Amino acid sequence: MQVLVTGGAGYIGSHSVLTLLENDYEVIVYDNLCNSSAESIERVKRLTGKSVDFIEGDIRDKDKLREVFEHHNISVVIHFAALKAVGESTTIPLSYFQSNVHGTVCVLEVMKEFGVNNFIFSSSATVYGEENDVPYDENMKLGTPSSPYGANKVMVERILQDLAISDPQFRAVSLRYFNPIGAHESGEIGEDPSGIPNNLLPYVAQVAVGKRAKLNIFGGDYPTQDGSCERDYLHVMDLAEGHLAALEWLNKNESFRGVEAFNLGTGNGVSVFAIVKAFESATSKAIPFDVAPRRSGDLPAFWANANKANTQLNWQATRSLTQMMKDTWHWQSNNPNGYAK
Ligand code: NAD
Ligand code: UD1
Repeated sequence: MQVLVTGGAGYIGSHSVLTLLENDYEVIVYDNLCNSSAESIERVKRLTGKSVDFIEGDIRDKDKLREVFEHHNISVVIHFAALKAVGESTTIPLSYFQSNVHGTVCVLEVMKEFGVNNFIFSSSATVYGEENDVPYDENMKLGTPSSPYGANKVMVERILQDLAISDPQFRAVSLRYFNPIGAHESGEIGEDPSGIPNNLLPYVAQVAVGKRAKLNIFGGDYPTQDGSCERDYLHVMDLAEGHLAALEWLNKNESFRGVEAFNLGTGNGVSVFAIVKAFESATSKAIPFDVAPRRSGDLPAFWANANKANTQLNWQATRSLTQMMKDTWHWQSNNPNGYAK
């Protein structure tokens, strides 16, 4: 079965491609490399001993996408490609709508031209917004997005619903990720942010490797157990396996039509202080930190109700917080400059 993976050279994409290859899917990666390196795919090929057809291209380039569909027998598209820096999305919102919304529409249009009906979308916990109480579950209404990036995810989820109403053959799964961290156990592939990392774990890892002096913990006065924010961190390999589970769910449920959303998280909230402590004890590296002012737009605490994915997709996040920390450090210490030589 041939799977087109947009954004497959990126952090979550590369781990998911590895899992798909290990499960005998044929994978075509389509990525413009705006936030990644083709080296990730080379390493995935080495780790699996399998081949991957890699095409460098932009999802907004419909002619190039058409060529890909013409030359392959694609059954399903897993769509990771997107810009993902929340802060940046507030300064260049039009670029975010261009890439993340218009780009997704281009992919869906070309799929329709070629009669491909199966779509798996990288959504986010951010779609629940501030209005919903934790734990978030899939029956909740989509919330008010707190950033243009969040608005992109909500808009694409709405587009998928409208498309499903108009097209009785369309089948989509929207996977709402919580906070993926960690890396493949080999230490060969992992998260390689450009510039100063926005997200917690890449920042912690860069402090540990000596690239940054100390961590700023954004807010120590939240109404949480220890005053820092709580999130639902899950291992990126568990997340990768969530994509496999979604694909197998689509394959198995032949009569399914429409759009189904699933949370992919552990169901547990972990604080920033607890992350620092877990990293230190898993790696024996000290992480100096300051408690800094709150970061604008941060919610105090959110985590998933993951029951729907557990029961329907037969998927569960199994890797421990210690494993997440060890694998982050294995990747970062082996590759202090990421994929750059
Ligand atoms: P990433 O930046 O590592 O991967 C995205 C990939 O898409 C990159 O390889 C990039 O080069 C490519 N890309 C971007 N715009 C493109 C375009 N116009 N055409 C072709 N390729 C393009 O990010 P990631 O963390 O792997 O995230 C993957 C997906 O998951 C994104 O849609 C993101 O919004 C979503 N997501 C990520 C997180 C997270 O915490 N990492 C959480 C929730 C959702
Ligand atoms: C990110 C995304 C959000 C997405 C969510 C789940 C941002 C701003 N938001 O948010 O859209 O839905 O992942 O995928 O990227 N922290 C520090 N110091 C740092 C970095 C982070 O204390 O240097 C704290 C943050 O305040 C937060 C926690 O660590 O409390 C996690 O931060 P981050 O990794 O950015 O994830 P989210 O805030 O959950």
